[in-house]
Amino acid sequence: MSVQPGDIRDDDDRRPPVDELLEIAQHGLGLHPKRLPSWLFYDERGSRLFEQICEQPEYYLTRCEIALMEAQAGSIADTLGSEVRLVEYGSGNAQKTHILLQHLHAPVSYVPVEISPEPLRQSVVRLAGEFPQLPLQPLCADFSKPLRLPIPPRAPRRTVLYFPGSTIGNFETREAVTLLRKMRNEMGNDGGILIGVDLKKDPALIDAAYNDRAGVTAAFTLNMLARLNREIGSDFELSAYAHRAHYNPMAGRIETHIVSRREQQVRVGRMRVAFGEGETIQVEYSYKYSLDEFAALAARAGLAVLQAWTDPAGMFSVQYLVRASVVSR
Ligand code: AVI
Repeated sequence: MSVQPGDIRDDDDRRPPVDELLEIAQHGLGLHPKRLPSWLFYDERGSRLFEQICEQPEYYLTRCEIALMEAQAGSIADTLGSEVRLVEYGSGNAQKTHILLQHLHAPVSYVPVEISPEPLRQSVVRLAGEFPQLPLQPLCADFSKPLRLPIPPRAPRRTVLYFPGSTIGNFETREAVTLLRKMRNEMGNDGGILIGVDLKKDPALIDAAYNDRAGVTAAFTLNMLARLNREIGSDFELSAYAHRAHYNPMAGRIETHIVSRREQQVRVGRMRVAFGEGETIQVEYSYKYSLDEFAALAARAGLAVLQAWTDPAGMFSVQYLVRASVVSR
């Protein structure tokens, strides 16, 4: 089946216009402590840098998840059952999807949901070549908002929402519960969620993953300021800021900050933002869970873990969630 760019369903309201971006930046930089949302990382360069992060030796998440998928895809496909409609949230890493699609039994369709049109188009073209029989129904949309899923070509037995990469870890607890609840609605009564979740482990390993020696994560973090300079005309001097990421064991999360190397002022629209030396902007959390903690989080969204697969070293997990009412039936 050949997919043309015109076939990509485009939900409106995907990207914030410039004045909205300015408002978001001004709001976040006016907070005490300063704070900017992590989705700001992902402009074109940021998305490329993230792909490079995934290849760094310290960033175990991608490697472990792919190895896990390679080892367990057969068992995962059996658990999901036949004639699934697979909806992927943030269809970034084609490699994991590829492994899953190779093992699924008679899938009804694949719906990649991605906010950036170009990566979406590229992944669809690639998959169309690799899986010519599989109906592809790309949707250009923000997965954190309610989705209008395209009508499937035939009735699926169930809708499975695939959310790999431990992106759920970038949401704070309350937001994560809200997102899982939204997913629970979208998958319907008989559906499920296949989700990648990074696990708690030696804090030194976690710290290293977010402080790679090649400095790719640092470039990724600071790219947020370059993006703001380009898109809203702020005048951050990039060399006057540094990346800082450390694991907070009490909160169970990596906390990433942009640190001002000196006292300075920045213009953001009409606003002047003052930084003291060492003052920070909090830009990302990456939560790590134990299996029990994630089950408790899922339960708050009315979901139960039907099965969890982990790699032999217990670094990473892929979990299949269904409605709690289905399990207790
Ligand atoms: C996308 N997300 C799961 C990554 C993470 O590990 O939290 C984003 C990232 N930030 C720095 N390195 C990777």
